[in-house]
Amino acid sequence: MKELKQLAGLLTKAERWSAIGLLALALVGAFAEAVGIGAVFPLLSLLSQPQAMLADERVRSVIVWTGAASYEQFVLLATAVLMLVFVVKNLFLAVLYYAQTRFVCLADARIGADLLSAYLCAPYGERVEHNSADRIRVVTTEVSKVTLGFLMPLIALVTEGLVVVSLVVLLLVVRPQAAVLAFVLMGAMSVAVQAGFRRSLGAHRHVRVEASSAMFRSVSEGLGALKETKVLGREQHFVRRFRDNSVRYARSTIVFMTMNLLPRLLMETAAVATLAACIIVTIVTRQPLDTIVPVLTVFGLAAVRIMPSATRMLSAINNLRYYVPALRDVSAHVANAPRPLRVELGPGTAAAEPLETFELRDVSFSYPGETAPTLRSVSLSIGRGEIVALTGRSGSGKTTLSDIMLGLVAPAAGEVRVNGRSIREPRRELGTYAGLVPQNFFILDDTVRRNVAFGVPQEEIDDERVWRALEQARLAERVRTDGRGLDMPAGENGALLSGGERQRLAIARALYPQPGLLVFDEATSALDSATESEIVETILTVSRTRAVLVIAHRPALLGIATRTFHIENGILTGASESERTVT
Ligand SMILES: Nc1ncnc2c1ncn2[C@@H]1O[C@H](COP(=O)(O)OP(=O)(O)OP(=O)(O)O)[C@@H](O)[C@H]1O
Ligand SMILES: [Mg+2]
Repeated sequence: MKELKQLAGLLTKAERWSAIGLLALALVGAFAEAVGIGAVFPLLSLLSQPQAMLADERVRSVIVWTGAASYEQFVLLATAVLMLVFVVKNLFLAVLYYAQTRFVCLADARIGADLLSAYLCAPYGERVEHNSADRIRVVTTEVSKVTLGFLMPLIALVTEGLVVVSLVVLLLVVRPQAAVLAFVLMGAMSVAVQAGFRRSLGAHRHVRVEASSAMFRSVSEGLGALKETKVLGREQHFVRRFRDNSVRYARSTIVFMTMNLLPRLLMETAAVATLAACIIVTIVTRQPLDTIVPVLTVFGLAAVRIMPSATRMLSAINNLRYYVPALRDVSAHVANAPRPLRVELGPGTAAAEPLETFELRDVSFSYPGETAPTLRSVSLSIGRGEIVALTGRSGSGKTTLSDIMLGLVAPAAGEVRVNGRSIREPRRELGTYAGLVPQNFFILDDTVRRNVAFGVPQEEIDDERVWRALEQARLAERVRTDGRGLDMPAGENGALLSGGERQRLAIARALYPQPGLLVFDEATSALDSATESEIVETILTVSRTRAVLVIAHRPALLGIATRTFHIENGILTGASESERTVT
């Protein structure tokens, strides 16, 4: 029941209604199965015992009603009706299976996409508590373990369960003693199978989740920090951790898959035992053996249908047991995911009014759990054409201040003003005004075009604008000489570019939306002085039409600032007006 509740919690209201609708269809399907197999019985009796059948008053009246001229004609008619019953039944079942599979697969797609949208759209500050390898694992693989490994088997269990019940009822009507015997035999087999598997499966299902998590982390850490991995010679660590856990995963899978195959063998044994029992019962009760031919045929057909159903049911139970931890894992991720889970993504950032002044007034901020505030009543104003520099020790709060200006985190107190207007929802509105060249940027393993127009759909990319951004970032020349133009590849994490080119690509990316305020966070700290002076030139160029904040220690950058601020213990001090006048 707890698991059912968790599962229901993963589905939307509409999906829960669909599930109920599918259940109703499965009921109809089970009834159709019984009707189909039940229809074989009269036809077989008609063929094997024509005399006895034709002597029956009811049969005769049916023949008269159909208008059949002869026995053969009636048999043909009955065969045609049987054919029709099976075709209609199987068409219906095909539609039912399609509807069930469609339901499960679309739920799978929806849950994964909703989780990702919750992760991406959540306020930036909430990112730190989660491991991204874990989130990648849940979104890409665990959700489908729940839908295909838990939801689908549950549907199969209910559907097949209904079929088995309706066929057993049919057999009870046709030959009660034998049906009871069959039911008891199969039931006993199933219980024995489940009891035998229970413990082993219980231990292995947890191993799968743990091993899968460790595998994802090994790959993501080892490949993600490839350079460090190689320089420090730690390849073996990641390979060993991955291999050990792959083997644990494999062992768990071996047990699980073998268990999924055994039910068929057991069911077959039970079916043959039932057949034997049927013959014995007929002989013991002294009934003529030829009367059991149609009964046996119906039993045979029923067995042919019950066996796969029962096998599917037993496998389904295995699956449900095995994937319970996956369900818990995904449920926990969904429960802890930032709300709202489904974020209605509006159109991209709208073009904002031109920025004249950008201002922070008495802004304070504390990280949750930290005793001392990171920013205390900070006030700062930057106008168009100005370059403001910000210095301070490591950990003094410079990046935090820029995060607030970018609308990544909301200030605890104070206000942000643009062109003299107070911004009510900084997280939503500031993105249209402010751009960032971060300290650590992520270059896509893609073309220069897509790196500059980061995340803009291909058909909406404005090549003119990409070139303009490259021009301003002083990267256009390099791209033009490449020959492939904007299709020039950047390589994984910019491996095909130099450090300075990567930096300029990051600047071009920040410039593409043409923000009124541009923040450079230690943008040149990793560059040599020649490359740095080129970036300085770039900053000077872009500052003509923008407000610029540079976070820096290096004299080259401080030299171009119109004013320099210092931050210490969360307090901003010393607006020293520099000599430089902006041209
Ligand atoms: N998400 C967070 N949760 C809690 N504390 C944080 C978080 N991010 C940063 N801090 C802390 O807040 C303080 C300011 O961090 P911030 O990144 O703003 O410093 P910084 O001035 O940019 O330093 P650096 O020059 O080294 O980049 C640091 O003491 C840091 O440990
Ligand atoms: Mg920083």
